Amino acid sequence: MEISVSYLKSLYSKEKTIMNIEKTTADYIHVDLMDGGFVPEKNFEINSTIKLLKKHELPLDIHLIVFDPLIYINDLATLEPEYITFHIEATKDIVKTIESIRRNNIKVGISIKPETNIMEIMPYLSLIDLVLIMSVEPGKGGQEFIPSSVNRLLILKKFRESNNLHYKISIDGGINNKTILKVKDNIDIAVAGSYICLSNNYQERINNLKSLNNID
Ligand code: DX5
Ligand code: ZN
Repeated sequence: MEISVSYLKSLYSKEKTIMNIEKTTADYIHVDLMDGGFVPEKNFEINSTIKLLKKHELPLDIHLIVFDPLIYINDLATLEPEYITFHIEATKDIVKTIESIRRNNIKVGISIKPETNIMEIMPYLSLIDLVLIMSVEPGKGGQEFIPSSVNRLLILKKFRESNNLHYKISIDGGINNKTILKVKDNIDIAVAGSYICLSNNYQERINNLKSLNNID
């Protein structure tokens, strides 16, 4: 299991938090970008986001919590992220959005909110590299894990096996040393924000998540 660290909620500035994450064995920096439309929160402007992340060393796992994800893709591609993930609820141009990300040689993810029927994502699973299951309502860090997310992970894992597909399964929201135990067998990537960034020892928290993953 890989760990993707979200810096949305932190004790420090974005800059310092990102520097701290870069010093750990995290696998990705999870970048939550919100437009104040798809969710009420707004936390980015494209040029300052590019400036903030330009010198990153860890791979970027970008989570677009925005309407019209297409309009941001070419600019974000300049950061050479590993993944760009957009919400299935955010656009009618799903295939066009997938193609635009691919054209930039970036892996494609689709995210789904807790209330959206999981069947909506099924037609696209053969076209993408990552599914990001939201286990909280998108918008804020530090919310409580929604237990019904576990069943969604199982559905995705079974579908992947029976159709010989290769997308990774990621979970985002409310992950900590307890909730990781509920999801660890069915995910490839755990996104964790406040559990790591509200502590003053990021590496220890990452080790906790990774070692709990190894207990059978
Ligand atoms: C929520 C974001 C998450 C969030 C996770 O909209 O997508 O990535 O930062 O934070 P925690 O781990 O605190 O729930
Ligand atoms: Zn996120």
